[in-house]
Amino acid sequence: MALPQRRNRRKHPLRFGWLFLAGLLLVACDGRQSAFSPNGFNAREILFTSWVLFVGGAAIFVFVMALAAYAVFARGERFPGARAWVIGGGILFPVVTLTALQVHEFGLARRLVTLGETPALTVEVTGNMWWWDVLYRLPDGEPLRSANEIVIPAGRPVELLVKAGDVIHSFWVPSLAGKMDMIPGHVNRLTLLAEKPGTYRGQCAEYCGAQHALMAFEVVVEPAERFDTWLTDQRRPVQRPLDAFLARGYDTFFSYGCQSCHAVRGTPAVSTIGPDLSGVGGRQSLGAGSFGNNVGTFAGWIASAQHLKPGNAMPSFNIMDGEDLRALSAWLESLK
Ligand code: CUA
Repeated sequence: MALPQRRNRRKHPLRFGWLFLAGLLLVACDGRQSAFSPNGFNAREILFTSWVLFVGGAAIFVFVMALAAYAVFARGERFPGARAWVIGGGILFPVVTLTALQVHEFGLARRLVTLGETPALTVEVTGNMWWWDVLYRLPDGEPLRSANEIVIPAGRPVELLVKAGDVIHSFWVPSLAGKMDMIPGHVNRLTLLAEKPGTYRGQCAEYCGAQHALMAFEVVVEPAERFDTWLTDQRRPVQRPLDAFLARGYDTFFSYGCQSCHAVRGTPAVSTIGPDLSGVGGRQSLGAGSFGNNVGTFAGWIASAQHLKPGNAMPSFNIMDGEDLRALSAWLESLK
């Protein structure tokens, strides 16, 4: 008796390859965080150079493989002009091509750092495990501190001074510029010139410990006039609210010792150990690009920061009374 035929479906290890490709395509098309959607001079120059390298590299690869195939399958006859091929293709071509690329890269690197213009604004960004400290150095000498979000004006060159507070991190906003390493004890410079207003996502690009993947941030590019208004608003000191519920939140902040790590402009909270919370309710995300920003996520973060992002420096305040937690979250969310 014949055994029933088993359909032998071969399970290829790369059978989910199309999913990977679709994911790549999706990332490439996402204008918020993609080197393929450049906004401004830096990102465009880098994308152009990348295409030159991809296409040039692919063409050379195909050509060399064709020569190799010829060498394998040709039947003993001598390749015409063999010596010229060796000298031309093996010595002259690489020397000329690589020298030209090197000269281009030197020029490009210099242009990307300075853009040949005086910066309109200087921002110090310090990478910490796992968040970003942001300090605007303003012309009048009074600094403005923020965290996990950098607001810049469109069309004006902005100088970023990047460094690290603990281990090596890397500052990367693919739509705006190339990567810049953040190294403890050393300041690196990067200039951004964003043309279109919008929100662009950045990500730490150097493995820096358990929560490296949850070390993201946003760069918000505002039209120049809106940026000036934003700056004026941010510099207003925060006051104890008149509303009773929000005032309870304000008091809770101090009674639980939040000021030991955080600062809120204009209040007795001045610590720089953790992120500055002066305008935290107006930012795009919480926990360094990890969660959406609303009263609920504030409460979740305060009560279980260690559950949501294990190992980060913020303890879970799960001993807080429910009403206090709601009031504190509402107050933080009101800080815009
Ligand atoms: Cu910071 Cu990875």
